[in-house]
Amino acid sequence: MGGLMMKKSVFTAVSAIAFAAASVAYAGPSAEVLHWWTSGGEAKSVAVLQKEFADNGGTWTDMPVAGGGGDAAMTALRARVLAGNAPTAVQLKGPAIQEWYEEGVLADISAVAEAEGWEGVLPASIAGHMKCDGKWCAAPVNVHRVDWIWANADVLAANGIAMPTTWDEFNAAADKLAAAGITPLAHGGQAWQDATVFEAVALGILGPEGFHKAFVELDMDTLKSDKMVAVFDQMRKMRGYVDANFSGRDWNLATAMVMNGEAAFQIMGDWAKGEFLAAGKVPGKDFLCASVPGDGFLYNVDSFAMFKVDGDDKQAGQGLLAKLIVGQNFQKVFNLNKGSIPARTDVAMDEFDSCAHLSAKDMSESSANGSLLPSYAHGMALRGAQSGAITDVVTAHFNSDMSSADAVKMLADAVANSL
Ligand code: BGC
Repeated sequence: MGGLMMKKSVFTAVSAIAFAAASVAYAGPSAEVLHWWTSGGEAKSVAVLQKEFADNGGTWTDMPVAGGGGDAAMTALRARVLAGNAPTAVQLKGPAIQEWYEEGVLADISAVAEAEGWEGVLPASIAGHMKCDGKWCAAPVNVHRVDWIWANADVLAANGIAMPTTWDEFNAAADKLAAAGITPLAHGGQAWQDATVFEAVALGILGPEGFHKAFVELDMDTLKSDKMVAVFDQMRKMRGYVDANFSGRDWNLATAMVMNGEAAFQIMGDWAKGEFLAAGKVPGKDFLCASVPGDGFLYNVDSFAMFKVDGDDKQAGQGLLAKLIVGQNFQKVFNLNKGSIPARTDVAMDEFDSCAHLSAKDMSESSANGSLLPSYAHGMALRGAQSGAITDVVTAHFNSDMSSADAVKMLADAVANSL
């Protein structure tokens, strides 16, 4: 009896395998895509890619990991790779691409890049981030600018305030707004948001050259300089301009505070514009955009890397995704929703709004005069250990009464220990 049952179950198992083998025959491109685009504007944007993928025969399995700035998504990625089960395609950017490449887990997408002529349509500075040992290992989606101030147009007008062009003007406007009972700065107390405000302030106060020395070269003299003390002084002021409930708030909820007039300003990358637009707000009318006081442009390029995976379906999915991502139509439609500008240089900009035009103009000028800089807060400038060490200090300072001098000392020590 037992023998019979065993035979039967072996037979069932064998036929199940035969069935499975037949069903793994090529079924078309497929991809499990890990990303952190879960806010209103972000979800609308990623839907553009999902649709193009489906329209081209692809089967998309969504793996969204909520959490602005992508820290939670990166933790989820590490767990999947360690378990030997990497997602097919992953939102990944900056030096983290190289770090994963060094672990031997990224696929080479040079064949698609060459067939599609990426070299001829991407600026060299962007292409450089997408290559590992000379091979293409990521596909760029956009150029986000980080050093923006967003404002509620009515709130500024009602209080007789113009968009600030210096930090003194910003502080004067903020003091006036606070006296009128309006939260000057919409902010969410999450480490990456603290870092976003910090780098915008640092760019303004250190200047582009000082920013490069501090956050690209990790130059100790600049990290310990009086100007860096002034950066933390301004951060202390910023802390005084946020509301009492800022702790832990998501960035898009901070954007909503500006939208509904509860707060006047937000310092945030232009994914915030994606939120304003998704809510039907009009730039120049409902909300205003300006670069933060000072020169320079902090760029943050979103991109996707393909992980080494088995299976023709997934590999075909990787090729198709890479091709679509850099495609002209996708780069236009996605970026109209996302708030960023295309990474490709040959996309017509006539449907883009005034903030996007300002971004494109400032990007080309800053590229020509050497002030186009990678965002440290959004993982474009430094490896994880170094950017993490800096952000820990920024957050510790923002959430305590630490003096600027102590913060600078802690910053220099943290960076030195992270090298
Ligand atoms: C990403 C954006 C994203 C933002 C908020 C940034 O680091 O580059 O694409 O919208 O984080 O999640």
